Amino acid sequence: MPRLAVFASGNGSNAQRIIEYFAGHPAITVDLLLCNRPDAPVVARGKNLGVATRVFNRAALYETGEIIEILAAKRIDYLVLAGFLWLIPQSLIAAYPGRIINIHPALLPKYGGKGMYGMKVHESVVAGSDPKSGITIHYVDEKYDEGKIIFQAECAVSSGDTPAMLAEKIHALEYRYYPEVIEKIVTRDD
Ligand code: GAR
Repeated sequence: MPRLAVFASGNGSNAQRIIEYFAGHPAITVDLLLCNRPDAPVVARGKNLGVATRVFNRAALYETGEIIEILAAKRIDYLVLAGFLWLIPQSLIAAYPGRIINIHPALLPKYGGKGMYGMKVHESVVAGSDPKSGITIHYVDEKYDEGKIIFQAECAVSSGDTPAMLAEKIHALEYRYYPEVIEKIVTRDD
């Protein structure tokens, strides 16, 4: 029975969608929501949804090993990043080899890398007059947005689209596909 932890930094609409999708699931549970910003809306979402929610600081992730201890105490099997901004350290990758999944709001390898997050990605796609964008679900390695790609889905970018309009299209794809892809991955080798 795979146990998931979701990491998020901001609004948390994907985190909420994932938590709701797996609520009552016969074989998969979301046991923990982790956030690096105490004021992020995702913290309230987690509490409202009744999921154990922890806010942590840089030291817990990069220095003390506290995050790994928290995950171990909860017997977490997979880490799901949903709008999480900080780089995942090597220690965490080593603790969860092939078991950390991220979603990026563009068609990697384009529009990825450090600082390419949320609206910044959509602003770049619109500024570049790219006719299409989409989502990429991938495994996480020690570099931003470079891990092995698991799944992509596309959407058209029309000439009148603003970054906010594109963000809406991308979110719709994320809500539709991310929970299902997670479900497939975590049940594949269990
Ligand atoms: C999502 O679109 C996600 O793909 C993106 O942040 C947004 C978070 O929205 N992630 C990245 O850009 C990672 N580089 P949400 O907080 O409403 O789920």
